[in-house]
Amino acid sequence: MPITNPLRLGLRQERVIPPQCLVIFGASGDLTHRKLVPALFELFLQRRLPSEFAVLGCARRPWSDEFFRERMAESLQEKIKDNSLAWEQFSKGLFYEPVDLQKADDVIRLGERLNAIDRLKATHNNRTFYLSVAPKFYGNGCRALASAGLLKDPKRSRVVIEKPFGRDFSSARDLNELVQNCALESQIFRIDHYLGKETVQNILVLRFANTIFEPIWNRNYISNVQITAAETVGVEERAGYYETSGALRDMVQNHLTQMLAITAMEPPGHFDPEAIRNEKAKVLQAARLANENEPWKCCVRGQYSKGGTTTNPINGYREEPGVNPNSTTETYVATKLFIENWRWQGVPFYIRTGKRLPKRLSEVVLTFREAPVHLFDSASGSPTPNQLILRIQPDEGAEFRFEVKSPGSGMRSRAVEMDFSYDQTFGEPSDEGYVRLLADAMLGDPTLFTRSDEVEAAWRLYTPLLELIGDSPWQLPIYPYESGTWGPTASDDLLSKDLLLWRRP
Ligand code: BG6
Repeated sequence: MPITNPLRLGLRQERVIPPQCLVIFGASGDLTHRKLVPALFELFLQRRLPSEFAVLGCARRPWSDEFFRERMAESLQEKIKDNSLAWEQFSKGLFYEPVDLQKADDVIRLGERLNAIDRLKATHNNRTFYLSVAPKFYGNGCRALASAGLLKDPKRSRVVIEKPFGRDFSSARDLNELVQNCALESQIFRIDHYLGKETVQNILVLRFANTIFEPIWNRNYISNVQITAAETVGVEERAGYYETSGALRDMVQNHLTQMLAITAMEPPGHFDPEAIRNEKAKVLQAARLANENEPWKCCVRGQYSKGGTTTNPINGYREEPGVNPNSTTETYVATKLFIENWRWQGVPFYIRTGKRLPKRLSEVVLTFREAPVHLFDSASGSPTPNQLILRIQPDEGAEFRFEVKSPGSGMRSRAVEMDFSYDQTFGEPSDEGYVRLLADAMLGDPTLFTRSDEVEAAWRLYTPLLELIGDSPWQLPIYPYESGTWGPTASDDLLSKDLLLWRRP
């Protein structure tokens, strides 16, 4: 079977996934064909799936195994072209069962189908149930699986739950209670695909495998931190979901907050799942909005309006199919936080995310304090403070900016960069987050999944904003911004009050 890049196996240290049946609920949905099945096929190409492996797709539609295989093949056309033999082998392990988790009979039939697959593929009753369904079905889905006895063996069964986990603090707490009544916490894998990104995990290695960063990773040396997740795409075909969510719930509470936690957490005592998740939970519990009691002062919301060119016009959010023409859903959020602990007291963390911005990019930028005395003239007027830029995507890597002497007889300084690129160093772009996370879930390794207390702390952090949006949204107006620009100008004011600027990458 062809391997996409032979170098890969040499550089990687991979664990072997045990015999397994992965059951995907919501198999007719977008995530399954865009992310999950491609990630599984990638694992297959990397020879990380055991031969005793099966995928059982479940949804309400009355599809057959064959139809499910054809649908998945359509989405993977490009990749299959170069790996047709591998696809033929892989797709033999794809099955489909029409299941409505609300119907007890369907769940009983599911159990029987799973037993049959176990016998056929020798998957040893090891089952990972992936809930890629509408969030309102997470609780009932777990309940249905538990009452059919499908979660009773904590060593052999687990549930993966997609985001958003709850819509606010109290619904997340209720959902936690419900799912913890169905399964042990060790069986529950709350997924946030940002944690599957190699570069997000690299923040941990950069910080804790080097001695030079940790001593300066604090309020004495760092003046501020900016965390950005910018997208060029609009809402695409997801208006139904997005209209009930908005950028704060869709991106900030989960992906950006996880990047914040990994950047700001204390070093764990050892590299084990609970030690890491303890530190992440602790730092989130210490995080506060910069103006908790007047949250409108530390947050800016925006919504993209039309843009593009006459030949290539881009719709505004309110013109997108399925969006209410008077929608007040935000597609952009910027906010400012503090972390009230010894390490970070007084250091502002600015976070922003938006759709239809000029570039697709996620990054964490740590800006260091200025030199106390400026001895030299600088080519740019004043010396640029040192910056460490952790590029999460695309062009994964890291960059350090510092001042050097400009060539010539004078003593002027100018900023230069030292650059590390994953692609150039390792000869390959890193895997999609779902590749790593699906493998970890099937291995039963929860390190990169969010624990119940972390999810609750993340929701609690944004509660003042969510309440404000719910109760008196006029206090947090939605500023329009032209598609293809860096968000509303009001978000620049959030930083200019602190004499800072957003980085324009
Ligand atoms: C998802 C959000 O979780 O993350 C989407 O629901 C967003 O709205 C996506 O587009 C961004 O992920 P990535 O990996 O492309 O940055």
